[in-house]
Amino acid sequence: MAAGDLVELAKRRGFFFGSNGAYGGTAGFYTFGPQGAALKKNVEDAWRDRFTIREGNREIEAPTIMPEAVFEASGHLEGFDDMLVECPECGESHRADHLVEDATDVEDAEALPGAEVEELIADNDIACPSCGTALAGEPVEAFNLMFATDIGPGDGQPGYLRPETAQGIFVEFPRLKEYARGNLPFGITQIGPAYRNEISPRGGLLRLREFTQAELEQFIDPEADEPPLDRVRDVDVRLYPATEQEADDGGYLDTTIGEAVDEGVIGSPWVGYYLGVAQEWYERVGVDTDRFRFRQHLAGERAHYAADCWDAESEVDGDWIEIAGFAYRGDYDLSKHDEYGDDSFTVFKRYDEPKTVERATVDPDMSVLGPEFGGDAAAVADALETLAERDPDAFDAETVAVDVGGDGDAGETYEVHADVANFSIEAVTESGEHITPHVVEPSFGVGRTVQTLLAHAYEVDEVDGEERTYLSLEPEVAPQDAAVFPLVTNDDRLVSLADEVAADLRAAGLAVAYDDSGSIGRRYRRQDEVGTPFCVTVDRDGIEGSGPDTVTVRERDSAVQVRVPADELAGKLTALRAG
Ligand code: GAP
Repeated sequence: MAAGDLVELAKRRGFFFGSNGAYGGTAGFYTFGPQGAALKKNVEDAWRDRFTIREGNREIEAPTIMPEAVFEASGHLEGFDDMLVECPECGESHRADHLVEDATDVEDAEALPGAEVEELIADNDIACPSCGTALAGEPVEAFNLMFATDIGPGDGQPGYLRPETAQGIFVEFPRLKEYARGNLPFGITQIGPAYRNEISPRGGLLRLREFTQAELEQFIDPEADEPPLDRVRDVDVRLYPATEQEADDGGYLDTTIGEAVDEGVIGSPWVGYYLGVAQEWYERVGVDTDRFRFRQHLAGERAHYAADCWDAESEVDGDWIEIAGFAYRGDYDLSKHDEYGDDSFTVFKRYDEPKTVERATVDPDMSVLGPEFGGDAAAVADALETLAERDPDAFDAETVAVDVGGDGDAGETYEVHADVANFSIEAVTESGEHITPHVVEPSFGVGRTVQTLLAHAYEVDEVDGEERTYLSLEPEVAPQDAAVFPLVTNDDRLVSLADEVAADLRAAGLAVAYDDSGSIGRRYRRQDEVGTPFCVTVDRDGIEGSGPDTVTVRERDSAVQVRVPADELAGKLTALRAG
């Protein structure tokens, strides 16, 4: 099935369709119809069950608009750009890197400098996809993907719609760490909308301007915390590491999570752990594992915050699409917010045993003597830094100026531009230290998962000599759990039993369609097409005779029917839905 066909099918059957059609439509925005909203919610519930509840994590819900300062700190203001080229004739904007990738062998044009992309456009005679005008000579510009807004009336405060749910978790870390009583590791999840002003939205739910993410931020002490890798050690995965992609004969690595971590193919055991959990979860919700892989990002492809990243990719209509990312974000985010924000984004790590360390103390009457200092400059700078952290009020520009060279990492050369008198070092006993946790982030696109499930569930077969199409959706995510059909509408007893059966199933929490129009065959087809796993028909055979009333239950994929006592139906279907 071609990509356009799936989008068309989704619209016809009430899964999703372009928004604001009555006003000409708005590219990049989709509305989930009755079937799609139910499917999406079930996917979110299954994700919550696996990544929040079963992992012992906690979920939050943060605002979707955040002040500019957050994105200054996170790096999105500076670096969350895509490459744009505008057609001089029709004025349409296009992703310059996508045009190059579509027209050449270049696989990762986003990683190239703008000037090189301009050259590739010219050398390959790339034309505007909308009107065919040559784009050679047009500038390739960086376009920031965030939607800007004003918070409050008048000049207000500049704000942005969040481009990832993650920032809503990071900025609240000072409070979240208290709820975790300062103990690492802990994980916080969030499911909600994210916004990106994509240059070229496309592919149904694949590239939208508003979409739903399900993200987990796992906060760890990189030196002490280990994931429960044994739980997923034996999970089979198909990996596509960077080395395989770079090799001319690049191929897949079919392995297990345990082996891939032991052999260093997956560098971080935490990332490995979540790839294993994700593999199992995707299988559970119905992704076809033959059309699924984990692909490692090439060095130039990684986001500004990621030290390593693997994508979960699914094959949809012949193309591989990224449906989730698993990034090792290190201490990038918390360090940045610690630097820019007014709160502490560190946790206090208590030592097993108190440690005695050398610390500097400075006489409060210290004075600045001049530019030269005869002692160990690094030791003085270190000591002054520590003291300034402990008691910032004791230090100001007038009393002492310490210039820490480079970015202050261990091993950097420190320069002291002031001499300090009355400086001494003494042994102190410390019970712990402040550390900045590292972050491991599984980040899922819910819409892309939904589109994958529809594509992978689409089946055509033959029933009773007739071709039928059906969606073999897993019962856990199918929009409706069952459909109830009275075989005829002119028999009060039969209709009343059908009403009763539907009411019982709904009272048991099952989503039930009721259909009494058309032939029974057509009613089955309608439900098959939206993936309803069970159809319940109430017929005369079931209400005649002296025993309890019975109904027939037809299973969608096999089309096999069995007769079941009506009063046992809710229990049986609930059990089948739970798997
Ligand atoms: N916090 C990390 C992050 O946002 P990302 O790879 O940019 O990482 C995560 O996004 C997931 O969100 C992607 O794997 C994809 O499934 C989904 N996603 C990203 N941009 C999207 C868009 N414009 N439309 C639909 N889904 C998108």
